[in-house]
Amino acid sequence: MLENRHIMITGAASGIGKAAASIFAAYGATLMLVDRDDRVRDVADSLPDAHSAIADITDSAAIAAIIASFPKIDGAFNNAGIEGLGGAMLPITEYPDEEYERVMAVNVRGLWTCLKAQLPGLQANGGGAIVNTASVMGWLGAAGMAAYAASKHAVIGLTRSVSLEAAPHGVRVNAVLPGAVETPMLTERGFKANPGFADFAASVHPLGRIARAEEVAEAAAWLLSAKSSFVTGHTLAVDGGMSAQ
Ligand SMILES: NC(=O)c1ccc[n+]([C@@H]2O[C@H](COP(=O)([O-])OP(=O)(O)OC[C@H]3O[C@@H](n4cnc5c(N)ncnc54)[C@H](O)[C@@H]3O)[C@@H](O)[C@H]2O)c1
Repeated sequence: MLENRHIMITGAASGIGKAAASIFAAYGATLMLVDRDDRVRDVADSLPDAHSAIADITDSAAIAAIIASFPKIDGAFNNAGIEGLGGAMLPITEYPDEEYERVMAVNVRGLWTCLKAQLPGLQANGGGAIVNTASVMGWLGAAGMAAYAASKHAVIGLTRSVSLEAAPHGVRVNAVLPGAVETPMLTERGFKANPGFADFAASVHPLGRIARAEEVAEAAAWLLSAKSSFVTGHTLAVDGGMSAQ
């Protein structure tokens, strides 16, 4: 499905990005895996045709240099993100301003930086596809997670706006909106910081469980492939029916 595609994945050291690396590799892609966590090297080493770079997505010079080091770019899965406060939930009145700034810096400014760096190469290649990881919290409010929800609403705004700018150049831009996903963000941080949240998270998905990271990565693979050739500016919920309620 992704043969001969050169695809960049951010946040590839863990969770959804790591699962995407395996799945995109199985579909034939050549990968550039980016993360600020050096475990991204191990992920690249375990796969055929995968290169890695350690960088923060808010560092525009580093991101531009990584893209320049890659022979070409046909696609990107802009997936790196943070939940803020190590998964703890706090109302806006108690939420530290510095943490709000950090969440927005990574989830919004970091995505902005990647999109800006990726688009010229994709357009120069005559087309391609980008998928951004938002969240169902890009559609819904979330008590205790206002900064995160605001950042994911912004991911959808960026996705839709940039899809319009990129369409004349043959570049499609879409977003996946996961519900709760079994990754370290949730199982090692969110569930530990919020007792009882694991059962609650499963119960709000009509399918009765949280997602596996691979289920989100498969949706991203489809949006990056030619099989979704007339889909752009779309927000695809991968949420077990949560947002249908
Ligand atoms: N897990 C969930 O329930 C869930 C639900 C909806 C959306 N998401 C989104 O999915 C994406 C992936 O999350 P995950 O669950 O796999 O989490 P994760 O914490 O397991 O993985 C996120 C990866 O992103 C990297 N990263 C974070 N900030 C970075 C930065 N500034 N520069 C470079 N790399 C950075 C981390 O080092 C980590 O490897 C995020 O955008 C997250 O908001 C997750």
